Amino acid sequence: MVKVLDWLDERLSIKPFFEHLLFRKMPKGINWWWTFGSATLFLLIMQLTTGMFLAIYYSASPDHAWDSIRFIESEVTFGTLIRGIHHWGSSGMVILVLAHMLRVFFMGAYKYPRETTWIVGVVLLTLVLGFGFTGYLLPWDEKAYWATVVGTNMAEQAPLIGNFVLKVLRGGADLGAVTLTRFYAFHVLFLPAIALPLVSVHLFMVVKQGISGPAKKK
Ligand code: HEM
Repeated sequence: MVKVLDWLDERLSIKPFFEHLLFRKMPKGINWWWTFGSATLFLLIMQLTTGMFLAIYYSASPDHAWDSIRFIESEVTFGTLIRGIHHWGSSGMVILVLAHMLRVFFMGAYKYPRETTWIVGVVLLTLVLGFGFTGYLLPWDEKAYWATVVGTNMAEQAPLIGNFVLKVLRGGADLGAVTLTRFYAFHVLFLPAIALPLVSVHLFMVVKQGISGPAKKK
């Protein structure tokens, strides 16, 4: 491994980049409260990995969605485990991203010069919630169906654009096959395509500016 790295470094000078990334100096006094961002990142990677394996068997049609989930649970090797991680991971991500945001807020880490990291973070929060909302429908059971009926009805209450949002989400007036295909496309294509570059920007800013330490006592 070391030889491979040396071989690459001789040609691409990659060592300074990784040294800068992995051996950054941390401010004094930081503790477990500072780990929520990295924990969220870890769960995001977990969700992407388990999601890719679920996509091998999942079928996004009203006739087959629930059966494909049952097949994953009962026939696929480690299927229950992978689905379980993905299922609980989605709730875990919402909890961790909120904990991360509260840590940043209460420690004032959103202030100058980190406002842009915060703004990108707010968009990431809505995307994390979007992943949860679109993923919830995919098993196409009673709970998923009615939760999405309620969720999309709530979106309809938005002033002026409510009806438009409802139609974009459902793909028509009612919830049906088009809604399921749409939610699947949002869940596995649109949301990751927006979230992954934004997470990269978020992390770039964190590395570039360094983590803020605890407020100094006067
Ligand atoms: C997918 C979601 C997110 C991921 C993967 C993520 C990841 C990270 C990581 C790894 C750090 C550095 C370690 C830390 O301070 O905990 C960080 C810092 C930061 N994040 Fe996030 N984050 C996410 C969402 C958010 C949200 C929702 C906000 C706020 C609305 C936010 C605002 C910030 C800020 C301001 C910093 C800099 C903190 C400092 O310098 O002390 N992030 N993020």
